[in-house]
Amino acid sequence: MKTYTNVKDLGDLKAAVKEALEIKKNRYAYKHLGENKTLLMVFFNSSLRTRLSTQKAGMNLGMNTIVLDINQGAWKLETERGVIMDGDKTEHLLEAIPVMGCYCDIIGVRAFAQFENKQDDYEEKILNQFIKYSGKPVFSMEAATGHPLQAFADLITIEEYKKTERPKVVLTWAPHPKALPQAVPNSFADFMNEADVDFVITHPEGYELGSQFVRGAKIEYDQDKALAGADFVYAKNWAAYTDPNYGKILSKDRAWTISTEKMALTNNAYFMHCLPVRRNMIVTDEVIESPQSIVIPEAANREISAQTVIKRILENL
Ligand code: CP
Repeated sequence: MKTYTNVKDLGDLKAAVKEALEIKKNRYAYKHLGENKTLLMVFFNSSLRTRLSTQKAGMNLGMNTIVLDINQGAWKLETERGVIMDGDKTEHLLEAIPVMGCYCDIIGVRAFAQFENKQDDYEEKILNQFIKYSGKPVFSMEAATGHPLQAFADLITIEEYKKTERPKVVLTWAPHPKALPQAVPNSFADFMNEADVDFVITHPEGYELGSQFVRGAKIEYDQDKALAGADFVYAKNWAAYTDPNYGKILSKDRAWTISTEKMALTNNAYFMHCLPVRRNMIVTDEVIESPQSIVIPEAANREISAQTVIKRILENL
């Protein structure tokens, strides 16, 4: 594996999940792979889980790890070519990226959608510049349009908790006070469409995701109908994708919050969320604290998804 930006990079998904579950049983078995290798993690945005789990994954593999927070201590970076740099940005990404590549063997990048220009976001302008100019294998730690380490961890978690061969998995929009990118729901849809699950997406009208991610998934605008018989409920907020409302909040309707009453419609479903989560906006205290909530084991599996991806990259260096 040279890059990891979406589900296709994993190849055979069943084999990838099997490999991840094997790694989970003995996470230090591949320590030799990372000896004298350096993992650089570059963050343009905040993180708790991605930062800790990916660093831990690199350490499990015997790697040295460096974390660079672009907005805390690094020079302010210009990302547009052709700009006269007479403002507050000291360095251009076109020098900074190859320099970063000099100091490491693998680079993880977190660069969220900025909601200023849909085309720039959906062309993954920053992530793709790292792929093009760093000279090193690059993986996404959540980019503008996808969060494939999260979705891989989500699939591993579903595999561990499922009680039927083909569970019903519902991705539901839920309200949030701020405009959030579509990266998590996009990648979750991308993975669920490739997995052996009955996949349904529910959201208010106007919150349709990109067709390249939704593909053949069922869309149900009535959340109660969608939740009926669900084995897994995956809640997430996202801002509007479709024009002319790209990046806008169209609803904060708390009737979409996942509550005990909503969970009662399901087949005693497990509750999932990528975290961080806004309690009593996305999900009530009662649901997230219930035995059906698997948000913590889901977060724990972020170490395993990251380790599987980094291991595959190391094997191809
Ligand atoms: N789920 C996730 O990526 O969490 P962080 O934003 O804290 O890394």
